[in-house]
Amino acid sequence: MADNDNVQSGKNFGIGTAQKVEGYFLKGSAHLDWGVKDRLSRIFNPRSGKTVMLAFDHGYIMGPTSGLERLDLTIVPLIEYADCIMCTRGALRSVVPPTLNKPVSLRYSAGSTVLTDLNDECIMDIEEAVRLNASLLAVMVAVGDREHEGLTIRNLTKTIDLGTKYGIPTMGVTAVGKELVRDARYLAMASRVCAENGAHVVKTYYCEKDFEQVTNSVPVPIVIAGGKKLPEKEALEMAYRAINEGAAGVDMGRNIFQAENPVAMIKAVREIVHNNAKPDAAFKLYEEWKK
Ligand code: R5P
Repeated sequence: MADNDNVQSGKNFGIGTAQKVEGYFLKGSAHLDWGVKDRLSRIFNPRSGKTVMLAFDHGYIMGPTSGLERLDLTIVPLIEYADCIMCTRGALRSVVPPTLNKPVSLRYSAGSTVLTDLNDECIMDIEEAVRLNASLLAVMVAVGDREHEGLTIRNLTKTIDLGTKYGIPTMGVTAVGKELVRDARYLAMASRVCAENGAHVVKTYYCEKDFEQVTNSVPVPIVIAGGKKLPEKEALEMAYRAINEGAAGVDMGRNIFQAENPVAMIKAVREIVHNNAKPDAAFKLYEEWKK
C-alpha cells in the first residue's frame, strides 16, 4: 500500500494561468472522442495537417496485379516512407512487419472481385480490427450503383457504429462504377454522402475541373486515390493540384508502386504533400533520387 505519511499538500496550482482550450487541426474533427483523435493524429501529421497513405489493398479485388505480385519485395521497402498504410488483414498478417509500427487503414469491407460484380460486400468483425490495432476502417461506398448502393451505405453506417464503440475512425471509399462519370458533381455527392453518414475521412478521386467544389462541400478531410498509373510527372502534378485545391492528403497506390522507382516516387509525393513543393521541383528530386 502507498505510504500515506509523506503525502504533501499540493502547492503549484498555476493560479492565474487559465488552462488552454485546445483546438484540433483536422477539418470537422474537433468534436470527436479522444481515441478517434489520437488515431487520426497518427495518420495525419499534426504539423502539416496532411497524410501520405500508401494503398496496396488492390489484391482483394484484383489478385496479384502489376507491382503487387510480391508484397514482401515491392511494398515492404516503401512502408517506412508512408504516414499510414492501407491494406487487407491478409497482407498485414502475412508480410507487413509489425515492428514498422505504422498506422493501418484496414480494408474493412470485402466481397466480389473484378471477375464478377464489384461492390457486393460485407464487413469484418470489429474485434478483428481491434486485434490488428487498426487506426482507420476503410469501407467501399458505391453511390449510384443500382444494385449495391444501399448495401454499401449500410456497410458504412454499421462500420461507423462499430468503430465508434472502440474509438476507431472510418474512411468512406467512394467507388465509381463503370457507367458513372468522375466529375465534380458526382464526386461531391458521393463524398458528401459518406460524410453525412458519419465517415471521419473520405477517399475519392481527383477531377481536373472544379475539384474545389468537392473539397469545399465535404466537412471532413478528403484524401485522393491516385487511380491508374500516369507518367510520374503527371502524377506529381495531380497530387499538387489536389493538395492545393483542399485535399488533406493522398491515398496512393499504383502511381507509387508501379513507378519506375517507387521509393523515389513516394519521397517525391511526400515533398508535395508535406512541404508544398511545386511539381517541377518534386519531379527534379524524383529524378535525382531515382539514380
Ligand atoms: C480501391 O478501391 C483500392 O482500395 C485502392 O486502395 C485505391 O484505388 C487507391 O489506389 P490507387 O492509387 O492505385 O487508385
